[in-house]
Amino acid sequence: MLHTIPMVDLQAQYRRFKGEIDLAILNVLDEGIFIQGNIVREFENQLAATLNVKHVITCANGTDALQIAFMALDLPKGSEVIIPTYTYAALAEVLHLLGLIPVFVDIMKDGYLMDVTQISSKITSRTKAIAPVHLFGECADMLEITKIAKQHSLFVIEDTAQAIGSIFCNEGLSGFAGTLGDIGTTSFFPSKNLGCYGDGGAIFTNNDHLANKMRMIANHGQSQKYIHEIIGINSRLDTIQAAILMVKLNHLKSFTSNRQLLAQRYINALEKLDGVFVPQKNETSTHVYHQFSILMIDKAMRDSLKLHLEKNGVSSMVYYLLPLHKQLAYKTNDSLPLSEAICNRVLSLPICPELTNENQDRIINLIIEFTQNYKNN
Ligand SMILES: Cc1ncc(COP(=O)(O)O)c(C=O)c1O
Repeated sequence: MLHTIPMVDLQAQYRRFKGEIDLAILNVLDEGIFIQGNIVREFENQLAATLNVKHVITCANGTDALQIAFMALDLPKGSEVIIPTYTYAALAEVLHLLGLIPVFVDIMKDGYLMDVTQISSKITSRTKAIAPVHLFGECADMLEITKIAKQHSLFVIEDTAQAIGSIFCNEGLSGFAGTLGDIGTTSFFPSKNLGCYGDGGAIFTNNDHLANKMRMIANHGQSQKYIHEIIGINSRLDTIQAAILMVKLNHLKSFTSNRQLLAQRYINALEKLDGVFVPQKNETSTHVYHQFSILMIDKAMRDSLKLHLEKNGVSSMVYYLLPLHKQLAYKTNDSLPLSEAICNRVLSLPICPELTNENQDRIINLIIEFTQNYKNN
């Protein structure tokens, strides 16, 4: 029996770094400080140095990171925030919770990222922010987004849950994903490129005032213990998770380059196959391949390939089944045809630093076999 190939092999990764991780956890247990503590601050400082950003504030998860960011901006109720419709639900969810209105934008042709040419036409007197998502590991067009934001005095909040370590560079604007707008947010969900062993998240900013405020919000609005200056929430990264993340942060560069090598192997093998489309990488951003996603001709073909892989012990995922404007919770009357179409065609394949060439070849051969037989049907 062939073993199953998961989307992300967290067990294999733990085995690789077991010595370092076990020691880091044991040290926390020995110290007996489980909430906050020096390790959390140390991790924040190391991540800030890695990403070249002034402040990193850790919190309980990537959704809270978005919530804390928008709470700190304190936008009037009913303010509009322009976001892509093709993304994970967290952003739209947080906006609604705070009484803000997500205004959805379609994706660009032949890609997965927000189409920035559509932003200007969505701006009204109520628009207060643009929140791009660096989906699948690649930066949205931050040059254009920051230009538009400046023209209209809008905030920019970058959701970089899927793109930590990715670098944007175009016409003098360069930097890590999440550090080019007013605030960046990320998630340390276990399967993320930098993942912990539970929930975790962080917020990035170069703005001292916002940093102060967000640190307070994440800790019940306290400036000092039992002094509550503003309304906050309870959103803290556990000390054990910070210790695990410190170990993994040292390996982030090598995780990224492994992912990039694997992505190139997929591209070489799949880009010429009939019925398979591999979108081109964006030239203004490095790609950290949180996901490696391909497009099939239509839903029938995508679903058949998914089934074929599953029958042969290979996991794959559909990110996302529906664009946000078609989800019951966030429904609008928008017509955003590219996002609507892509949800029917997209399929993400296993990719993680621990995926062996042998297992990747097994996946590739299954896809080749599938396209040959599908054509002949
Ligand atoms: C783009 C994006 N934003 C936000 C989140 C939310 O992160 P978390 O699950 O840590 O709350 C995720 C998680 O999958 C995500 O992919």
